Amino acid sequence: MRLLGIAGSLRKESWNLKLLLAAAELVPEDVEFEVWDGLKAVPPYDEDDDGLPAPPPVAKLRAAIARADAVLVATPEYNSSFPGQLKNALDWASRPFATNPLRFKPVAVVGASTGAFGAVWAQAELRKVLSAIGARVIEGDVALRHAPERFDEHARLVDEDVREQLEEVVSELVEAAMPRVAVAA
Ligand SMILES: Cc1cc2nc3c(=O)[nH]c(=O)nc-3n(C[C@H](O)[C@H](O)[C@H](O)COP(=O)(O)O)c2cc1C
Repeated sequence: MRLLGIAGSLRKESWNLKLLLAAAELVPEDVEFEVWDGLKAVPPYDEDDDGLPAPPPVAKLRAAIARADAVLVATPEYNSSFPGQLKNALDWASRPFATNPLRFKPVAVVGASTGAFGAVWAQAELRKVLSAIGARVIEGDVALRHAPERFDEHARLVDEDVREQLEEVVSELVEAAMPRVAVAA
């Protein structure tokens, strides 16, 4: 099984990227975790450019999502929502709707902020958008508040409660991505 991690921040020292990397440490041994690092390269969405072949950064994004069994998104909060560049990437990923790689895909959303709320509004908006795109958004969440206090100088997550919540989200995501076997009576 393969999980794809997407951080909604472009910052090198992003707390959300650190949260994603902490999640990567928590996946079961037989699960591969790939962090997508192409967000900055995604061009502005333009329906006139949305044909075949897709712009290369968009083709890479769609392929990365398609080959993943599930996706974990860690989002910052910008002005009470999630960042525009992440929305832009999701708009590209959502087309064409009927065959978009997020459709029916299990997706979990977590978030980190430097303030007291842990990007909860951004997460809510992101869940709404992912649902509209057709993803199977799972319920578990992590709202990591006061981010600089939760990591040590090696960027390791040192808050045990948050680690447990993250582990729960990861296992819920892995469970949601398990192939279902129908047993005939
Ligand atoms: C343009 C902008 C808008 C922001 N708006 C909010 C906000 O509405 N609520 C909040 O809690 N933090 C807000 N912040 C603070 C970010 O949540 C904080 O900088 C966070 O660390 C960014 O995530 P990152 O570390 O992954 O880059 C904002 C930051 C920026 C740059």
